[in-house]
Amino acid sequence: MNWATARRLLHLPAKQSAPIARPLGLPPSDPLAAVRARSMCVVSGKGGTGKSTLTASLAASLERHGRVLLVDADLGVGNAHLFCDLQPEQTLANVVRGECSAREAVVPVRGQLDLLAGGSGCLGVASLDRKQLQLLGKGLYSLEERYRSILIDGAAGLSSQTLQLAAAADIVLVVTTPDVTAMTDAYALIKVLCAERPGLVPYLVVNRVLDASEGHAAAERMRAVARRFLDVEIRLLGLLPEDRSAYRCTQRRQPVVLGEPDEPLGLALADLAQRLQRELDHLHPHGVGRVLCHRLGRDGLAESESCGA
Ligand SMILES: Nc1ncnc2c1ncn2[C@@H]1O[C@H](COP(=O)(O)OP(=O)(O)OP(=O)(O)O)[C@@H](O)[C@H]1O
Ligand SMILES: [Mg+2]
Repeated sequence: MNWATARRLLHLPAKQSAPIARPLGLPPSDPLAAVRARSMCVVSGKGGTGKSTLTASLAASLERHGRVLLVDADLGVGNAHLFCDLQPEQTLANVVRGECSAREAVVPVRGQLDLLAGGSGCLGVASLDRKQLQLLGKGLYSLEERYRSILIDGAAGLSSQTLQLAAAADIVLVVTTPDVTAMTDAYALIKVLCAERPGLVPYLVVNRVLDASEGHAAAERMRAVARRFLDVEIRLLGLLPEDRSAYRCTQRRQPVVLGEPDEPLGLALADLAQRLQRELDHLHPHGVGRVLCHRLGRDGLAESESCGA
């Protein structure tokens, strides 16, 4: 692949074409998988593209259809708990340090929604080593039979846990804005993710678009460049408008779909959640914790199965 050419093409005017449906490139299934939560990992190349804003609203929408676990995988400066208006005592940072179990760190949010919060200002766990990743995998493995969906709010960029979680989740959702730097970083992230997980079909959300044509143009640029240089088909899940309600809801510590559901962003998020629910319902869940344990070696899964993690 010629990286310079790909980067240049991200700036070219778009050609319109409809998204193409293709099955996810998932690891082999097993009989246990049928009872495991469907999982999605939300990632971005650049920070601040709207992952937490989006994931909080998706979690609030999906919990109407079944139990949802929102996992904040940002162990450096996680803030998913802010959107839930909670300050949990135990977080995933404690789990990966072996200080508590994942079950002990989960807190109820509302209705059928639970939260496994990320670390906030935690040194030493911003990017996890293998042992910490195993604790993360075992922790998720111990939880995933209890939920219909697990939504992971990933850290921006290429931390080890973002890569591993994205490699293990049923769906990988890349969030970008139409901004050239965000698009370039999203492309770089997709390139690394697809090398880590051959056959992956990433989903894309373009956030903060000023109008639909800007959003579709950005999405089509990304899809065309990924197809040409990576031989990867990206599926566009949706566009989200630039909307000040995102800021107002964050100030009030509410997901947009609950705080201002009738504003353009709230309506677009609800629509996106419906589409996501359909995608999740149609896939065969593999268990993000289970796949992560397998990826990290047989020992991880054997121990978690025997000790119940
Ligand atoms: N559609 C939108 N319209 C206007 N502002 C938005 C929109 N989406 C997100 N924002 C704002 O962008 C900022 C970053 O959003 P958010 O925290 O969700 O991003 P993030 O990707 O989770 O960031 P990080 O990489 O730091 O975790 C926030 O101030 C948020 O209110
Ligand atoms: Mg965030």
